[in-house]
Amino acid sequence: MSQKIPIRITVNGIVHEREVEPRLLLADFLRHELELTGTHVGCEHGVCGACTVMVDGASARSCLLFAAQLDGARVTTVEGLVRDGDSQPIQDAFHENHALQCGYCTPGFLITLYEFLADNPEPTEQEVREALSGNLCRCTGYLNILKAVQDAAGRLRAAGLRPAVR
Ligand code: FES
Ligand code: FES
Repeated sequence: MSQKIPIRITVNGIVHEREVEPRLLLADFLRHELELTGTHVGCEHGVCGACTVMVDGASARSCLLFAAQLDGARVTTVEGLVRDGDSQPIQDAFHENHALQCGYCTPGFLITLYEFLADNPEPTEQEVREALSGNLCRCTGYLNILKAVQDAAGRLRAAGLRPAVR
């Protein structure tokens, strides 16, 4: 049996101290150890984007990271996007523009968009397409996702907000 490694990791603003197997993926740590099942696993090869989370404020594939690498890190999952029990403009825009079907890909899209719209609050359609090109939707609902992103950007600008995560 491999020796476990102690880690201290902040997830959605909550500090967790655990001992983990060296080979435990961050995606599995989040889902199985912390029961944050909003982070989905699709390809497990860094291709589909379903497992995207933020690590120290930048989006990252949780299927390509080991939990043991994250000692001292700050991670935000889709659950961390909720504020005071309420959704934020990006989630609202997805909901109202019917930008999800089965919803499997949605957490990864939302996390990717938080980073993207924080950096680029007034994106062109081409910029949105490029930003989302690393996330796959097996329901192929891309047109409504594009609409939702422009709607979300408009909502954020109108409210004078930037996407904020814990
Ligand atoms: S499960 Fe991580 S990119 Fe597909
Ligand atoms: S909504 Fe089903 S995979 Fe995207």
